[in-house]
Amino acid sequence: EKVDETHRTGYHFQPPKHWINDSHPGPMYFNGLYHLFYQYNPKGSVWGNIVWAHSVSKDLINWQALEPAIEATKPFDIKGCWSGSATILPGNKPVILYTGVDKHNRQVQDYAVPTNLSDPYLRSWVKPSKGNPFIDPDRSVNASAFRDPTTAWFVNGEWHTVVGSKRDMVGVAYLYTSKDFKKWVRAKEPLHSARGTGMWECPDFYPVSPTGRRGLDTSALGKEVKHVFKVSLDLTRFDYYTIGVYDKEKEKYVPDLGSVDSWAGLRYDYGNFYASKSFFDYKKHRRVLWGWANESDGEARDKDKGWAGIQLIPRKVWLDPSGKQLLQWPIKELEMLRSPDPRKLNSKVLKHGRHVEVDGITGAQADVEVTFSFRSLDRAEPFDPNVCHQKGSTVPGGLGPFGLLTVASEKLEEFTPVMFRVFKKGGKHVVLFCSDATR
Ligand code: FRU
Repeated sequence: EKVDETHRTGYHFQPPKHWINDSHPGPMYFNGLYHLFYQYNPKGSVWGNIVWAHSVSKDLINWQALEPAIEATKPFDIKGCWSGSATILPGNKPVILYTGVDKHNRQVQDYAVPTNLSDPYLRSWVKPSKGNPFIDPDRSVNASAFRDPTTAWFVNGEWHTVVGSKRDMVGVAYLYTSKDFKKWVRAKEPLHSARGTGMWECPDFYPVSPTGRRGLDTSALGKEVKHVFKVSLDLTRFDYYTIGVYDKEKEKYVPDLGSVDSWAGLRYDYGNFYASKSFFDYKKHRRVLWGWANESDGEARDKDKGWAGIQLIPRKVWLDPSGKQLLQWPIKELEMLRSPDPRKLNSKVLKHGRHVEVDGITGAQADVEVTFSFRSLDRAEPFDPNVCHQKGSTVPGGLGPFGLLTVASEKLEEFTPVMFRVFKKGGKHVVLFCSDATR
């Protein structure tokens, strides 16, 4: 099968060929290696035949592909092995929770464990017939919208996991608990729900430290600890999060006042970024976030080129000192891909409607660090989260857009702008980082 290499990435994770989607199947760190599991079609470059593909890395940058960890072989996952996550149980025992699509097309929750814990690569996984599926949707649950179990956390003497769902237009995070990680029961109330959002795909629920940049283990609790709850909304195809408090007595997550569920709320990213998943990196004590992006051209083109989709650059995430949003930065390891001899350009004045050429970059891809400064932010316009998409790079705003024109043709008939816009919101400034692939 032919693979068109022209636009394959030099920085992002990609398998050699075929379709990928969510990284939500969960990255994990185990015994010195990072594992990435992701949704993959081993037979072609459009969505289908979904398995859990598996790669390992020492540094989150250089990856080695292994055989798929989970494939559709059992009545409880015969129509697909969909998203889920990994949890490391006490005694250093990884377990995967995932959504199987069963022979009746119902979404059920299954588990898998490594067959040989002393294999550092954890190449082979088994889905025991005993105890699978571990959650069978009863009649009160919509079995065609019931998926993507989270990394489990331990509190009040029990394990907890959340499964994403909907009831009509209400997004629901069903909570399940277990004493032994075998028998799971549904809690009376969901961990969280919100009206008007539609389906909650790929929920992610994790604690963040009130100060500093260190990450917390998913089961970490503490008086000052805040929680992040993220969902992927299939109606808008974006990832939204809120910051709030996990009330462990009531088994409820309560977003802080002003932290809004749904598409009026906060996003990890204002570009193409979906079905993300975070994990606690035991090696570096940070929380790392992965997202997935697909190309903006269609299915025919994907078939032609023989591949589709990338995993985005992993980011470290932590709580902003204001406590009201997250901060993120590409993982430090990315810098190992930089050349020892960077191109530099200093102190250029950017005039409205003009551009400055950075010469000497011959590759189609570059890792760029750039600082913009202004005399004044007075002209910032009122915040509008849709502006990236609606206005692209050519419609001027109060302050911006300004940024980089990447993969530009010589006469600028074609380019992909990566740009900033500055807004005002409630007496503060908000900056969006946008891109526009239309040209
Ligand atoms: C999100 C998603 C998940 C599902 C998986 C199937 O992109 O739809 O909800 O588990 O992809 O591949």
